[in-house]
Amino acid sequence: MTFGGLTALSGVSLSLEQGSIAAVIGPNGAGKTTLFNCIFGLYRPTSGQVSFKGQSLIGQKPHRIAKLGLGRTFQNIELFAKMTTMDNLLLGRHLHMKCGVLSGSTFFRRGSKAAAEETAHRRKVEEIVDFLDLQSARNRYVGGLPYGIQKKVELGRALCMEPELLLLDEPVAGMNLEEKQDLMIWLKDIQEVLGVTLLIIEHDMRLVMEVSQQVLVLNYGQPIACGTPDEVQNHPEVLKAYLGEQDGQAVAHA
Ligand SMILES: Nc1ncnc2c1ncn2[C@@H]1O[C@H](COP(=O)(O)OP(=O)(O)O)[C@@H](O)[C@H]1O
Ligand SMILES: [Mg+2]
Repeated sequence: MTFGGLTALSGVSLSLEQGSIAAVIGPNGAGKTTLFNCIFGLYRPTSGQVSFKGQSLIGQKPHRIAKLGLGRTFQNIELFAKMTTMDNLLLGRHLHMKCGVLSGSTFFRRGSKAAAEETAHRRKVEEIVDFLDLQSARNRYVGGLPYGIQKKVELGRALCMEPELLLLDEPVAGMNLEEKQDLMIWLKDIQEVLGVTLLIIEHDMRLVMEVSQQVLVLNYGQPIACGTPDEVQNHPEVLKAYLGEQDGQAVAHA
């Protein structure tokens, strides 16, 4: 992927196994978000291929890609601050809606078919609220919730789309250590209980080590290592290029 004279990604190759958790790590500006944007159809790669279940995603619009079973969250929270958690999550269902956008008035106006559909969507949303333990936030405005909970609502909204593959751009950024560890447990649950394949962008090497089966390390748009957490952690290029040695363990210079 090039932008004018800048090569944001070059020679990157990654293959995700269904049901696994993979991580993309690398310093700021390494090309991580660009990779997501190429997968999700926001950028059209200058060359190369992106495919999902054998189908090329190149040239497809993001909403079409979402319909194929891909979901994502953004590096900066993109929720509706003046809406409740429930309403934000219901918006995550719009992909599956036949009768259009939900609202209290249309619920009564458009007859039983729309009402039945809304009930089904609400049920799905309630499942996600239960799953992520968001009950105490369900009727609160998202803007007033603690940052860590907002991140979880955003994750919930992505899950409401029922994706098969979920791309998470820095899901724990801005969280304290306890919130981070909490969220990592949710990610494992999403993999194990819901069977969703996950691709996560994260700065903190130690964090991804715990949850991922595969790690891709980018530096200035180049892949410098790809393998199991152990392989990557001890890879000389990784240690040299952007990881420092601390207490015998590699840590990212985020
Ligand atoms: N739309 C764009 N136009 C021009 N340059 C871009 C664009 N998107 C990303 N870049 C550049 O690509 C490089 C990688 O950015 P990014 O993927 O956001 O890095 P990361 O997410 O790893 O921090 C940066 O140099 C950034 O400025
Ligand atoms: Mg980024």
